[in-house]
Amino acid sequence: TASVKISPSILSADFAKLGEEIRAIDAAGCDWIHVDVMDGHFVPNITIGPAVVKALRPHTDKLFDVHLMISPVDAYLEAFAEAGADIITIHPEAGPHSHRTIQAIKALGKKAGVVLNPGTPAKMLDYLIDEVDLVLVMSVNPGFGGQSFISSQLRKVDAIRKMIDQTGRDIHLEVDGGITVDTAPLAISAGADVLVAGTATFTGGPSQYAANIRALRGE
Ligand code: DX5
Ligand code: ZN
Repeated sequence: TASVKISPSILSADFAKLGEEIRAIDAAGCDWIHVDVMDGHFVPNITIGPAVVKALRPHTDKLFDVHLMISPVDAYLEAFAEAGADIITIHPEAGPHSHRTIQAIKALGKKAGVVLNPGTPAKMLDYLIDEVDLVLVMSVNPGFGGQSFISSQLRKVDAIRKMIDQTGRDIHLEVDGGITVDTAPLAISAGADVLVAGTATFTGGPSQYAANIRALRGE
């Protein structure tokens, strides 16, 4: 559908020229920009921190969708907010006080999201959904780009779509991991309205970004 938002994950960009890459995906018509933050502790990989988010901020006006895969998380929220994050998304498994963490993100004036790992049930949202602006369903185990889509997560997307509709609130439902031209339509029909795409956006280099993004939207 034309209304689905594409949030390219810069994890698959050329890290030696991130500013240029951000300008290229902006020009190619992406909706948001997905920033994967990993600490080598919560997930088995290390990426970037607030200094890089801050350096990238002047390169685009598009929304920064910052996915924090770090533990502990609370001590870093302010730094990411100040660096220019618009949405900050956290894993409930990253600490014992996810409800408090979500309140802290909102108190910083940012939108708050909660992420569910492939093994985490939708039920985890029961007492969080009324507090968040976004739910992110991981369709791979977090840590790396380029993994295969885990189809069992479609059932979870469908269940969460129903939960969101019941709230009557405008909560984004985002799917992250293994999104391709083949899996994007499945995620969309299950109820996703935002798709993260790393490999599928950046494959082929800058001349292909616009076509890649259009293809993910089904255009
Ligand atoms: C995985 C990250 C994803 C990942 C997506 O831990 O959260 O955002 O970069 O990459 P692809 O689209 O290549 O699966
Ligand atoms: Zn991500």
